[in-house]
Amino acid sequence: MLRVAVCVSGGGTNLQAIIDAIKSGKIENAQIVRVVSNNKNAYALTRAGKAGIEGICVSPRDYESRELFNRALLARLQEAEPDLIVLAGFMVAVPACVIDAFRGRIINIHPALIPSFCGKGYYGLHVHEKVLERGAKVTGATVHFVDEDLDHGPILLQKAVEVKEGDTPEVLQRRVMEEAEWILLPRAISLIAQGRVTIDESGITHISGK
Ligand code: GRF
Repeated sequence: MLRVAVCVSGGGTNLQAIIDAIKSGKIENAQIVRVVSNNKNAYALTRAGKAGIEGICVSPRDYESRELFNRALLARLQEAEPDLIVLAGFMVAVPACVIDAFRGRIINIHPALIPSFCGKGYYGLHVHEKVLERGAKVTGATVHFVDEDLDHGPILLQKAVEVKEGDTPEVLQRRVMEEAEWILLPRAISLIAQGRVTIDESGITHISGK
């Protein structure tokens, strides 16, 4: 059984998609062992509670320095003994100590087609604002492994989503979630739980089987 820790900051619709996929059997052989939020008011923590999953808050505000927060985050993740950490709308730069301790075992969902519309400043609604400002006709979502550089690690799954005339950032964000994010993230976890994902020496992921 793949032990999954999910890191969140906000509404937690991606977390919900994972919870639902485990419940319905779309993801087999995986369980969420802990949900970690940097924000104690995140609705994602309520979603975890409703699903009977332990949810905890580790906020930078509760620590005197960033270093102490980083260490606490690492400790709270380690004590859950996850095989995989899923960043599902986690608005915190993952500290190097966490990346190091869980190398190749952290995935993130980004609401655009990497390497477009990613990197510094490209988070939340801003991503969709920039897509619309640029006049892109296609956007989407990407699940990728996390390394030290922002939105940079090996790409695992991507799905394209159409940009439509008259879209607002909010409308586009919703479409990207419905048509891509909520499908891709459970699928990524399922593939990893089935042991079908490898990363080669060039940093390219490969998915075995059908
Ligand atoms: C999603 O768009 C995700 O891609 C981004 O933050 C948003 C989180 O939404 N990184 P939710 O908390 O899962 O509803």
